Amino acid sequence: MTLVFVHGAGCTRDVFMHQTGAFPGSIALELPGEEAGLERVEDFAAAVADAVRDAGIRNAVLCGSSMGGAIALELALQRNARVRALVLLGSGARLRVAPAILEALEADFPSASRDFARRLFAEPAPGLVETAVRMLERRGQRQTLADLRACDAFDRVERLGEIRLPVLALNGSLDTLTPPKYALLLGDRISGAKVETVEHAGHLAMLERPRETNAALQAFLDSLA
Ligand code: COA
Repeated sequence: MTLVFVHGAGCTRDVFMHQTGAFPGSIALELPGEEAGLERVEDFAAAVADAVRDAGIRNAVLCGSSMGGAIALELALQRNARVRALVLLGSGARLRVAPAILEALEADFPSASRDFARRLFAEPAPGLVETAVRMLERRGQRQTLADLRACDAFDRVERLGEIRLPVLALNGSLDTLTPPKYALLLGDRISGAKVETVEHAGHLAMLERPRETNAALQAFLDSLA
C-alpha cells in the first residue's frame, strides 16, 4: 500500500509537511497549476490517476484534503483499479463555496487570501496563517479561484452508495469550511465508512493538529493491513 496525499484548493503539497516524514514511502502530489488550465474535479482526478500510474503505484490509499478528497471520491466512483482505500480529510460529497469568498479573492487577492488563510484554522496562530498564505500565493489567484469553482460545481451525494472501498472521513471538530456534518453524510451513505474527528482543529487539521491526525491515519492504515 502506498499513501498518496492530494492537496486541496489554493494549497500545495506543503500542506502535508507533517505527514510525509511520518509515513515513510508516502508521496504528496502537487496538482497541476495555472499552466494546465484545469478547472473541474474530473480533470484533476485524471491528472492524479496519471501520476499514480506513472509512479507505478498499484495499491494507493488516497488521502485527500478538501478538494483532494473530492478528487479521491471521483477516482473511487470511476473504479480506478489502483485505488485501494480513501481518507477524506475535511472534505465532502458536495463542496459549495460561499460566493462572498470567491468575490473577495477575485477583488483583492492579497488581502482576501490572508482572511481565507485565517479561516482554515480553529486557532489561527501566526505561523499557521503564514504557511497557508504562502501556499495561496504559490497556487496563485487564478488557479485558487479555478480550484474553488471546481469545488463549487462538485456534487456526488447521490452516488456515494456506489463506493465499495474502505473509507475514513476525518474532520476537524471546528472546521467551518467543511463542517463535521459533511463527514457524517459520507459515513451514512458509504457502506462501512469510518467517521472520526480531530478535536480542536479547523479545516487543515493535518497542519494544526498533526499528531492527532497522524494517529487517526495510522489506525486506519493498520485496519487495512
Ligand atoms: N454534506 C452534508 N451536508 C451538506 C453538504 C455536504 N457535503 N453540502 C451542503 N450540505 C448541507 C448544508 O449544510 C445545508 O444544510 P442546512 O440546510 O441544514 O443548513 C444544506 O446542505 C444546503 O447547503 P448548500 O447547498 O451548500 O446551500 P446553502 O445555500 O445553504 O449554502 C454556502 C451555500 C456556499 C454558503 C454554504 O455551503 C457554505 O457556507 N459552505 C461552507 C463555506 C465554504 O465556502 N467552504 C469552502 C470549501 S473549500
